[in-house]
Amino acid sequence: MCGIVAYIGNRNCKNILIDGLKRLEYRGYDSAGIAIMVPQDPKRDALGNVTIEVLKEAGKIKELAGQAKESRIDGKCGIGHTRWATHGEPTKINAHPHQDCSGKIAVIHNGIIENFDELRSELKEKGHKFISDTDTEVLPHMLEEYYDGDLLLAMQRLMGRIKGSGAIVAMSVDSPGEIIGARITSPLIVGISRDGNFLASDMPAVLEHTRNFIVINDYETVRLTANKVEIFDNNGKPIERESFRASWSITSAEKSGYEDFMLKEIFEQPYGVKESMRGRLSNGELHFDELGLNSKQIKDIKKVQIIACGTSYHAALIGKQVIERWAKIPVEVDLSSEYRYRDPLVDEGYLFVAITQSGETIDTLAAIREAKSKGAKVMAITNVVGSTVARESDSVIYTHAGPEIGVCATKTFTSQIIIMYLMGLYFGKIRGTLKDADYKKIIDELHVIPNKIQNILNRADELKEVARRTFKHTCFLFLGRVFGLPAALEGALKLKEISYIHAEGYPAGEMKHGPIALTDAKTVVVGIIPDDSVYDKMLSNIQEVKARKASIFSIISEGDKNSGKYSDYLFEIPRTIEELYGILTIIPLQLYSYYIAKNLGKDVDQPRNLAKSVTVE
Ligand code: F6R
Repeated sequence: MCGIVAYIGNRNCKNILIDGLKRLEYRGYDSAGIAIMVPQDPKRDALGNVTIEVLKEAGKIKELAGQAKESRIDGKCGIGHTRWATHGEPTKINAHPHQDCSGKIAVIHNGIIENFDELRSELKEKGHKFISDTDTEVLPHMLEEYYDGDLLLAMQRLMGRIKGSGAIVAMSVDSPGEIIGARITSPLIVGISRDGNFLASDMPAVLEHTRNFIVINDYETVRLTANKVEIFDNNGKPIERESFRASWSITSAEKSGYEDFMLKEIFEQPYGVKESMRGRLSNGELHFDELGLNSKQIKDIKKVQIIACGTSYHAALIGKQVIERWAKIPVEVDLSSEYRYRDPLVDEGYLFVAITQSGETIDTLAAIREAKSKGAKVMAITNVVGSTVARESDSVIYTHAGPEIGVCATKTFTSQIIIMYLMGLYFGKIRGTLKDADYKKIIDELHVIPNKIQNILNRADELKEVARRTFKHTCFLFLGRVFGLPAALEGALKLKEISYIHAEGYPAGEMKHGPIALTDAKTVVVGIIPDDSVYDKMLSNIQEVKARKASIFSIISEGDKNSGKYSDYLFEIPRTIEELYGILTIIPLQLYSYYIAKNLGKDVDQPRNLAKSVTVE
C-alpha cells in the first residue's frame, strides 16, 4: 500500500519518477506527488545551491503526470510517491511528499506511524506547523528537529522514536548529494545502475533502468549517492550486502497490447502454470527437494497449518483438499488476520505454510511471526523473490508466475494452486498414500493443464457474451461444492472487487440454511457443476434456485447434456480429474467477472479502495 520511488544520479529524474510511479500505481492510486532537488543555476550549482520543488495531485498518476509535463522543474535527485490513504482523506494537501517548516526537507512514506498523535503534539509544542491530516507529516518535522549536519543520523534517531510500520525516504537541501531511506516492515529495495541509484517499494518501478537490486531489511537505513549505496544496521553500523539480479523483464511488467493488466495476466496463465511446474515436474517425475523436507520429516508431519488472506486463502482451500486426499495429512486453513489473534496451538509435528503472492501482506507476516514465536518452522509460498515473507520464513517455494500488476490476483492464484497440487502429490508419494496409478494419472493431467486453460481462454468471447447479457443484475451467487467451492469463493471475490456488485460465494449445500432467501429474478446464480463426485448434488441445488426464478449460469464439463435443462447460460470446460477442476473452473469466472466490470465501465486494474500489497492492518 503506497508506492515509493527515488532516484539520484546523472540523469534528470522527473520522468524516471513519474514512470516509476505509473508502474507502482497498483500499490495505491488516490493521490501522488514528487519532490525534486532543483539547482538554482544548473550550470553553476549542480547539486550545490538547490531548492526542493514539490508537485502533487489528488487522483490517479495521470493527473500528476499532466502537471509534471507542464512544469519545467527537473533535477538529478528526486523522490515520488503514490498514496493509498490511511490517515487523512485522499486530497492534494495530504498527498506525499511532505515537508518540514523550512521546506528544506521532503519525505515520502509507506506505512502507518502509530504514535503520530503523541509526536505531533510534541512537535507542535516546539513550534512546528502542520498543514495536513496525515501521520506522515511528523516525519519531516522530526528530521528538522534532529538534523545536525547529517541526514542519515537524523533518520536513525527518528527510527528510534516511531512506532508502527514504514518505508521512509527523505532528502534535504542541506545534504544535496544524497537520499536517505529507512525501513520498518514495509518493503524497500535499492536498484543499482551505472547512471545512478534508486529506491523503490517494488522492482517493476525501476526494471526499465536496472535489474540489480539489494533488499533493505527491517530497522536498516540506507544512504544513496549517485554512485554509492551504503547500508546501516539498527545501531548505525555499516553492513555489506551483495546485490542480486532479478529475472523479471520489463515487458513482463507492461501491458503488451492488452487493454488491461488483468486481462493480460488472465491470458498469461497457461505460461504461468507451466513456469510453476518447470523444474519440478518433468518427464512424468516430480522433483520437490526445495521443500527442504526429507522423507522421514514428511512421514512425521502430524498436521499442515496453512495461513493466507483473500485469493491466497482460496488457493489454501484447494491445498487442504488435495493434501488430505492424496497424503492423508489433516490440514487446517486459517485466515492470517484471524490466526494471529486466536492464540493458536503449535506442535513440533505441524508443518506451517504461508501463502502470499506479494510476500508483504502484513497479516500474513504477523501470523508467521506468531507461529514462529511458538516454535513453528514456516514454509512460504510466494511470487516475489526477496519479499519480507520470503526472508522471514525458514524455506520458500516461489510460484514463478512473473510480476502481477493488476490489483486482482489472477495468474498468481493459479500458480499457487499448482504448488498446492505438487505438494499434495509429493507428500502422497513419499507417504505411500497415493497409488502409483493415481500418481501417474495426476501427473499426466498436470502436464496437459496449460493446454486446457488455453482452450478456455480461446473461447473468451462466449464469456463476454454471457457477461453482456447479465451485467445489469444486482445480486450474484456463486455456488460450488468440494473442489468447486474455492472457485465459487474466488469467483465472487473477483466480481465484487472489480465490478462493485454484491456477490457471494457459497457452498451449494448451505443455500437452504439461509441464503436461498436472497434468490429472486434479480439474482444470477453461477453454478460450478463439473462432472465430479458431487455433480448430482450440484444439479439438485441448481434446480432449487432455478425454482426461485434466479438466472442460472453453469460452468460444466464438455459434453454434459444434462445441466443445460436447468441453465440459462452455459460454459463448457475441458474434462479433467476431479481435483484439477479446482484450477480449471476458476478461469471462466475470472473472465466473466472481467467482462462484467468492463460492461459497467470500471477500472479493473485499479479498483476503488484496494491496493495490491496490503501492508497495513
Ligand atoms: C484479490 C486479492 C487479494 C489478495 C490478498 C492477499 O484479488 O488480490 O484478496 O489475495 O490481499 O494478498 P497476498 O497473496 O499478497 O498475501
